[in-house]
Amino acid sequence: MSSKFDKIIDYAVRKGFFWQSYEIYGGQAGFYDLGSLGVLLKSNIIELWREFFVKQHQEFVVEIETPIIAPAIVFKASGHEENFTDYAVECLQCHRTFRADHLVEERLGISAEGLKAEQIEEVIRKNDIRCPVCGGPLGNVYRFLLLFQTYIGPYSPSNLAYLRPEAAQGMFINFKRVYELMKRRLPFGIAQIGKVARNEISPRQGLIRLREFTIMEIEFFYDESNPTCDLLYENCSDEYINILRAEDRAKGIDKPLPISVSEAVDEKIILSPWLAYWMCIAKKFVNALGVPNNKTYFEEKLPSERAHYSKQTFDQIVIVERWGKLEVSGHAYRHTYDLERHIEFSRADLYAIRQLKAPKIIRRSVVKYDKNAVISFFGTKAPQVFKVLASLSSEALAKIVAESKGDGVVVEGIEIPKTIFRVEDVEEKVWVEKIIPHVAEPSFGAERLLYIVLEYAYSEDGGKVIMKFPKRVAPIKVGVTPLVDREPLEGIAHRLFKELKRHYYAMYLEGDSIGKKYAQADELGIPFVVTVDYESPSKGDVTIRDRDTKKQIRVPIDGVVKVIDAGLKGVDIFSLGYPIIERVEDKE
Ligand code: ATP
Ligand code: GLY
Repeated sequence: MSSKFDKIIDYAVRKGFFWQSYEIYGGQAGFYDLGSLGVLLKSNIIELWREFFVKQHQEFVVEIETPIIAPAIVFKASGHEENFTDYAVECLQCHRTFRADHLVEERLGISAEGLKAEQIEEVIRKNDIRCPVCGGPLGNVYRFLLLFQTYIGPYSPSNLAYLRPEAAQGMFINFKRVYELMKRRLPFGIAQIGKVARNEISPRQGLIRLREFTIMEIEFFYDESNPTCDLLYENCSDEYINILRAEDRAKGIDKPLPISVSEAVDEKIILSPWLAYWMCIAKKFVNALGVPNNKTYFEEKLPSERAHYSKQTFDQIVIVERWGKLEVSGHAYRHTYDLERHIEFSRADLYAIRQLKAPKIIRRSVVKYDKNAVISFFGTKAPQVFKVLASLSSEALAKIVAESKGDGVVVEGIEIPKTIFRVEDVEEKVWVEKIIPHVAEPSFGAERLLYIVLEYAYSEDGGKVIMKFPKRVAPIKVGVTPLVDREPLEGIAHRLFKELKRHYYAMYLEGDSIGKKYAQADELGIPFVVTVDYESPSKGDVTIRDRDTKKQIRVPIDGVVKVIDAGLKGVDIFSLGYPIIERVEDKE
């Protein structure tokens, strides 16, 4: 076995983190099952995301949950039905289908993102790129819709529906409701974590490119005339992020440069201050997952590479052994695109109200009419004329009068003499105006992060695997074991295990020797192991071993939970004042 990637996949399958779905029927590309450790790791990653993005901003970021299936109109309005496509190409010999731009990238080592179908086709022909499986010739390059289609209820074209490819639309649709719940104050964010589906053309990268995965997203709404983001200075003023700008990429530069987040905003490198803020939080979050700063950066997308809704996009990249770089999150400045489109398609009022500092003077024309003149002209028909006139707004009536030629004005089939109307220009003071908020969106894929956490935690010591998971995301938090599997040590260890399970995912370790038990715990990345040894029955204490230093402290049994709690929160357990034991562990 050679590469780190192969070792990690072997480890993950062997230990039950994940494996391909539908294995007994030969497997299905793009779908993965998570085993118990995978479920624990993923839910800890999600919880940490929730803490960084929602909990720490809970006064203005709230989480919602919306359905995975949506009527087609939603994705017509969002532009996905038209634009959410990738390029596919079929082998004319074996009839397998591949993602055309990826074939070019793999073969020639150049990026084909943003190229048109004809351009990709030309590259394929010129370089004689053939089917990677059978070597056969490739057909035409075509656009393939990545939305999964279904029907809501029995089949009927009007029941067409799609599985959502992003959680975002559920948040745009609920903009007005949440805006009201947030007491009509901007800025605010809506977060959502949930499954999405994309009918990826030929996913061959395991957990990295799935057809069904979990997305963690925020749509952050703000008034672009007041985009000030105090938090940027409060939480991120000293933070540096690495950015590879689109203009540099276009010149062939591929080295990201560090820049302070506030400088990136001041110099308009990042167009939206709130996009910059969430990028700063994204950096901190990825650091907390075990990725050091020099292994992550933000790559600005070229205009041709951006999604249809975006004015500026940065992909957050993490360096990985297998592919060099891997996108773990996308940060898009969606400006007013989505709300505007939903206003257009649904006619709903998805506006926010901007309070003005000084009143705005609005000049408009209003139409008045002489009631007595209506009565004397129309006689008994006058009430009918009043009814028609009352049904129109003043603006609509003004428009009809202004556009009418000749002496009469025709309103809903009734001709009224023009002399009856008087058009007046009035001035009004208004203190509010309707706006469409701008939107900054950070969007993460949970499974890619799961892979990243595994890659960055993986280490070997003398041929043994040690998973150095950050304590917050470690699937199992604590192991417990007797030094030897005999009474009375076993009884004490079992009682302790029962107690620890009330607080954490814990594991009772069994094995031939204490060295083997510790190795087992290290292999699963368990941060602490509590050991009942020969002194425990008389002294009422145990040892707690730290995975990363292998050092131990002696702690009274009733203090174990307190110490583990502190350790999991990041406190150095060796600073707590308990006796420290440095035990040379057997090489077993
Ligand atoms: P890619 O360019 O890799 O296809 P994308 O730019 O389409 O990704 P986004 O639409 O920005 O991805 O989605 C947000 C995040 O969702 C990505 O940063 C990634 O972490 C995750 N993601 C996207 N597609 C997949 C997939 N097929 N499988 C697993 N995770 C994915
Ligand atoms: N305290 C148990 C051990 O020696 O590892």
